[in-house]
Amino acid sequence: MPKSDLRGKNVLITGASSGIGRELSRCFAAEGSNLLLGCHPSEKDILETWATELAGRYGIRVSGLPIDLSDSRGPEDLYDSVKRTVDKIDVLVNNAGILHYGCFSEIPLGDHESLVKVNVIAYLKLMRLFMTDMVKAGEGRILNVVSAAAFQPTVYHATYGASKAFIQSLSEAVNEELKGTGVRVFTFNPSYTKTPLLSRGGFPERVWWYRISGLGDPADMARKAMKAFKQEKPLYIPGIRNWLIHSVLIRVMPRSLLNTLSGWVLREER
Ligand SMILES: NC(=O)c1ccc[n+]([C@@H]2O[C@H](COP(=O)([O-])OP(=O)(O)OC[C@H]3O[C@@H](n4cnc5c(N)ncnc54)[C@H](OP(=O)(O)O)[C@@H]3O)[C@@H](O)[C@H]2O)c1
Repeated sequence: MPKSDLRGKNVLITGASSGIGRELSRCFAAEGSNLLLGCHPSEKDILETWATELAGRYGIRVSGLPIDLSDSRGPEDLYDSVKRTVDKIDVLVNNAGILHYGCFSEIPLGDHESLVKVNVIAYLKLMRLFMTDMVKAGEGRILNVVSAAAFQPTVYHATYGASKAFIQSLSEAVNEELKGTGVRVFTFNPSYTKTPLLSRGGFPERVWWYRISGLGDPADMARKAMKAFKQEKPLYIPGIRNWLIHSVLIRVMPRSLLNTLSGWVLREER
């Protein structure tokens, strides 16, 4: 796939009804890509309105695929629906995600389980399913929207950080295995961003960490993700301060200190 030429390419984005996924769909639409947009079935109407708006504004084809990725066959059903709609996917953007804030022992077991299904199992299955076709075609790109949370434990949303660490490790290893196939796996690793993920997940309005990281804007994040994607950056943490902390500081800081600090800066401020 020629670098940065996305016109006419088929792009599948999961979790496109809000937040970063919605803004990413706008960015790919502006590049002239045809879109297949996934969402939770409860957001079907919102997605349909958004799909119609994008198709009209950018003159592209847009299909909505409302499928629950926490269902045991959700990712397979999404794959089958995509295959019935287009003959191939050029770019898969794994983006749908959830978060639950609170002490591990107080969050219901079912919430931990659905988080792992959406943030881990769905990413893994969709990568594996679409990658087979991409390798056969000799080209394709997978953009995994991960998080800066992938690089260190995240106290008070422990399962979330662990899910992101899983996908980070998986993406980097698989990207290495794919060398020479024409298929690449990239990760986008933003810090906290103002989207429904945080409000729905009970994330506090005030944590000390925001004084360092700030709270990102989803449209700005998506634009940065698109720029990094077109430059074929395998891993991209937006913001110099966040990059320094998550890729340099965490390597030199003793692990016990890192964990204590994580708890301190991510505790709700009253
Ligand atoms: N916001 C942040 O601070 C932040 C920071 C770093 C990385 N990220 C990552 O960015 C990605 C996008 O998150 P966001 O912040 O943009 O949150 P968001 O606005 O809540 O978007 C999440 C999307 O995932 C969809 N989704 C959730 N559960 C689903 C399910 N079971 N089946 C199908 N779709 C489902 C949501 O659909 P519904 O709206 O219908 O539930 C929504 O479209 C996530 O992977 C997140 O971990 C977010």
